[in-house]
Amino acid sequence: MGVEQGLSHTPVLFEAALEWLDVRPGGLYVDATLGGAGHTRGILERGGEVVAFDQDPQAVERARALKLPKLRLVQANFRHLTAELSQLGVAQVDGVLADLGVSSYHFDDPERGFSYRLEGPLDMRMGEGELTAEEVVNTFDLEDIADILRTYGEENRAYRIARRIVEARPIRTTTQLAEVVRRATGFREAGHPARRTFQALRIYVNDELGALRELMEGAAQALRPGGRLVVISFHSLEDRLVKHFLRDHPGFTVLTKKPVIPQPEEMESNPRARSAKLRAAERKGERE
Ligand SMILES: C[S@@+](CC[C@H](N)C(=O)[O-])C[C@H]1O[C@@H](n2cnc3c(N)ncnc32)[C@H](O)[C@@H]1O
Repeated sequence: MGVEQGLSHTPVLFEAALEWLDVRPGGLYVDATLGGAGHTRGILERGGEVVAFDQDPQAVERARALKLPKLRLVQANFRHLTAELSQLGVAQVDGVLADLGVSSYHFDDPERGFSYRLEGPLDMRMGEGELTAEEVVNTFDLEDIADILRTYGEENRAYRIARRIVEARPIRTTTQLAEVVRRATGFREAGHPARRTFQALRIYVNDELGALRELMEGAAQALRPGGRLVVISFHSLEDRLVKHFLRDHPGFTVLTKKPVIPQPEEMESNPRARSAKLRAAERKGERE
């Protein structure tokens, strides 16, 4: 993912997501990733009711201020989907949508530490977890840092970057870290050389893949037969996890043989859309 994702607030694959979710008037849908409420509004406009999750208190507060009818807000990690739904007295839902990753609000706020271009503290927490990127960078062993960069950034110069990080400690800000990575790698690849390092730290700090797996397991329990799970992912690690989970889970029928990607016009106008992939599946079972 790149910082350029922060430039647009337009929901990615907006129409496609709502189509695949099969939104119907009177249906109840979970938007697992409220963000700027773009997809949530789309569901509401088509007559659906929404329970929207975001682990970021700011996202929930912004949506609360909109006072939208038929919208319930839950400030929680979507990995707790079923527990939170049962607290609301909801046993079954008609669809679950997840538009993964960091919202443009996060990227645009230097204090959150997601952008390698904007000077800020090395935070990178999407929610209220304790672990920050600063702690990883300044206290983890060289081997562990290299492992994180390799696993979650698919960075093939992981060891070299990790060694430079350890040598340069303490590293306190985003741009300091970006500069350490740039010096370790040079500008040989397209895009910023720190892109993979930042992606890796963010995924690790927020346990993004673990949370995604639990969300999909939760959706398998919460969806009524015939209900849809729609996931939009932004990098290959997420997409692979979604693809394999949906293919191997006995409770789902995959609806998208190939991932749905945005039209060229959307990629042109919304840089965040360039790496987006949507996959959809339907909950098996007898419909009532
Ligand atoms: C890309 S944005 C969603 C944008 C939204 N679809 C829209 O139309 O405005 C992703 C949002 O999901 C939230 N998020 C990411 N991972 C989460 C998790 N595990 N649990 C809850 N919220 C999460 C982020 O805080 C962010 O606000």
